[in-house]
Amino acid sequence: MGKWVTIIFVLFFYAIAQQENPAEEVKKQKELLLKEMGILPGDVYAEQGRDMFNKPMGNAGKSCSSCHGQDGRYLRGAYAHMPRYYKDMDAVADLDTRIKYCMEKYMGVSDVKHDLNFKSIATYVATLSNGMKMDVKLTHPKEREMYEKGRELWYARVGKMDFSCAICHDSEADKRVFLQTVVAVKEDKVATHWPAYRFSNDQLWTMEDRIRGCFGDMRVAPPEHFHWAVVALNLYLSYKAKGGVVRVPGFIY
Ligand code: HEC
Ligand code: HEC
Repeated sequence: MGKWVTIIFVLFFYAIAQQENPAEEVKKQKELLLKEMGILPGDVYAEQGRDMFNKPMGNAGKSCSSCHGQDGRYLRGAYAHMPRYYKDMDAVADLDTRIKYCMEKYMGVSDVKHDLNFKSIATYVATLSNGMKMDVKLTHPKEREMYEKGRELWYARVGKMDFSCAICHDSEADKRVFLQTVVAVKEDKVATHWPAYRFSNDQLWTMEDRIRGCFGDMRVAPPEHFHWAVVALNLYLSYKAKGGVVRVPGFIY
């Protein structure tokens, strides 16, 4: 049974890869052209994120720059150390969670949406660490605890399909789904290029979106109600990206 599920799954991916969609083709060509010309949508979003960073929002009449400096100059290098423990939250937070908290608690923004504006700000903040090396530390007990949870989740077999993250993403995984790993997420230190512009669906995605997307592929309901799982995996993968140079926004197909 498991074997058949696997085969069907592989065929499904193959079919998608083979799909000849003229509109998609045009988009692809356009994207490559933009890339060659050096204008990437991700960069445009990051620019917009900078503008929003400096503009007041919410009931408190504050902008991000009110606390983090014009253009976020005090946030230089912050992303390279994230996720990490924050005293004011008494929790480990990743980029998305941290920004959401600042908006709710410090700016009086009610009902923070994980929309393009939000992600543009997140992308901009991450660009402030460009050129620096990822250096997530596990100093605080809560960081070590979250890391352990992330590691467990990485190898845990879940859902009807009995997949784990490792099955698709670890070269040393015990059971292989594909002939090759899809993306060697840990070895490639991919945390260095998120948030990324994802050209296949023309969207800006954060690492949280990507992890949720993979949970979806595993036919496991995105753990909206146990958000900590996403943060734990993010911490695990960001820690594994240690030494990798940050280059945001990434450009992902
Ligand atoms: C009223 C002040 C205030 C405002 C406004 C504010 N923050 Fe924060 N922010 C904080 C505090 C306090 C911390 C925790 C600092 C710490 O513990 O090192 C923080 C932490 C952060 C961090 C993590 C920094 C690090 O060194 O790890 C990021 C990223 C961040 N904020 C982004 C934002 C963004 C983006 C906005 C606007 C949407 C924003 N903040 C608005 C007060 C604010
Ligand atoms: C069934 C296979 C499969 C499983 C299981 C899976 N993923 Fe993925 N993952 C993918 C595919 C396909 C991509 C997209 C590759 C691309 O963008 O070309 C991807 C991409 C990613 C990326 C981004 C890679 C990059 O290039 O930056 C991350 C991070 C990731 N997955 C994390 C996870 C995590 C965490 C889990 C477990 C919760 C998981 N994946 C489970 C198939 C899988």
